[in-house]
Amino acid sequence: MGALNFTPVGDNEKSIKGELTCFRAIFDPDGEGWPFIYRSWEGLSYSLQMVIPVSGEAAMNSFNWDSFWEKKGENKQMIRGAKRMANRIGKFLNRYDIKSVADFGCGSGGTLFILADKYPHISFYGFDSSLIIVSKNHQRAEEVGLSNLCFKQDTIPLIKSRMIFDLVYSIATLHYVMDIKQAIKNLYRRVNTGGFLIFNYPNRYSMFWYRNHIKPSDKEMRVRFSLLLAGQNLITLKDITITAGKKPKNFWRAVGENGQRANVCVYLHKPCTPD
Ligand SMILES: C[S@@+](CC[C@H](N)C(=O)[O-])C[C@H]1O[C@@H](n2cnc3c(N)ncnc32)[C@H](O)[C@@H]1O
Repeated sequence: MGALNFTPVGDNEKSIKGELTCFRAIFDPDGEGWPFIYRSWEGLSYSLQMVIPVSGEAAMNSFNWDSFWEKKGENKQMIRGAKRMANRIGKFLNRYDIKSVADFGCGSGGTLFILADKYPHISFYGFDSSLIIVSKNHQRAEEVGLSNLCFKQDTIPLIKSRMIFDLVYSIATLHYVMDIKQAIKNLYRRVNTGGFLIFNYPNRYSMFWYRNHIKPSDKEMRVRFSLLLAGQNLITLKDITITAGKKPKNFWRAVGENGQRANVCVYLHKPCTPD
């Protein structure tokens, strides 16, 4: 075995970097073990930087979405994503008798703006924890004259709203929520009988993906995905089945796409009469 020398990076950093001069690395070569390893081969030594998962209080998601949305508008990437998601949700709207739709964690609401324009007979509601983006969206809906689209501030998992919808979806949002099981329970409660709940969620594959793709130097992304990077809010299909009392179905398959195991998206169809 060779030498293992690590030094802290930054003052109050949870990251250390150093060099391991041996070939039989004591870490999982797939990067799936603990801790997260930012790897690169350098000659005969294994140079690595470890980001030690934050835990306890430090891992509470402290990302400030209000200041994010204060600075950010809808960019090209968001617009492309919104078009794709509107197309997928549209397949459910075409297939079933749906009169109301809610998007929890709607962000800049791109998907909702497209859908509200295309389906004027359906009422659309966007909820987000950030008051800034809710106000911006509200103003935009007024400007473009979409009277079937409204926005409200609300936070998962508590959800103040008592409204019920035929279709509820939450995309790229549960990743920032600590108590996902409670979130799923409360989102499912907002679904009308015979309606649908669609969501993607963080699992162990998404954790590995983000651990391998977020650079240790990217502080903003590390704070934003702190829960996921620390593996504190991961769930499985089995957890969802137990939580909802119903086995979820594959959303990607339902819309004719291939999903990835790091981005599993599912839907729950609420029975017309209680199971
Ligand atoms: C990555 S964006 C996703 C936006 C949109 N769903 C999409 O797919 O483009 C996550 C959004 O969730 C919101 N958010 C974060 N935590 C939340 C929470 N606990 N409850 C409700 N919204 C939340 C953020 O303000 C942000 O707008």
